[in-house]
Amino acid sequence: ILPKPLKGKKVLVTAGGTREFLDPIRYISNASSGKMGYALAKISYALGGDVLLISAPTCLKKPYGVKTVDVVSAEDMYREVMNHLDDMDIVIMNAAVADFKPESYSRKKLKKAEEKPVINLEPNPDILLEIGKRKRDDQIVIGFAAESEKLIENAKDKLKRKNLDIIVANLLEVFSKEKHKGVIIFSDGRITEIPPMDKEESAYFILNKLFTKDS
Ligand code: C5P
Repeated sequence: ILPKPLKGKKVLVTAGGTREFLDPIRYISNASSGKMGYALAKISYALGGDVLLISAPTCLKKPYGVKTVDVVSAEDMYREVMNHLDDMDIVIMNAAVADFKPESYSRKKLKKAEEKPVINLEPNPDILLEIGKRKRDDQIVIGFAAESEKLIENAKDKLKRKNLDIIVANLLEVFSKEKHKGVIIFSDGRITEIPPMDKEESAYFILNKLFTKDS
């Protein structure tokens, strides 16, 4: 029998890539598969947590025992996360939130035009930044950072700017793949390397770091 270190803890996990629709069928999104977030939700439940998964669209089966709320856009996700935030002990913000959305939405399918179409974008809310501003001292907030370069430097900057307890940093190559690897950076400066492994094993590795003081 597994130990249940998350027993009695409310855990919020976000996963997947948000979709920002232009018209009823076209959207802007990113290549996130949701696998890492779903693995984190599944393993949080296995460790005894009371888990709420707020999921942008994915092709994945919902993890057993986990309450799930489906959302589509960053705005939807922002609303759901903020509705539940105060209730949570641990927040794991794994979703790949689209940074921008189209300025306007057409209820009718956009027609093919003679000229090159122009899509104007406007910023979405930065959900994690808002969580960081609102979080209480007894809440643990974990962010993710996918970087093309300067992995540690950029992730450390995000950890500080977004007021996180932990950030998990990956190079972009793990996006939508089966295997995960990266580094865990703690707000006190400690760094732990995550060796290459399956995303569920990696989720277990990351969650275990919450309960063990050593790195
Ligand atoms: O700054 P960057 O987008 O790289 O930070 C990544 C982290 O911030 C991830 O944990 C992601 O879920 C979160 N994020 C967010 N809202 C956004 C953009 C990113 O919560 N609009």
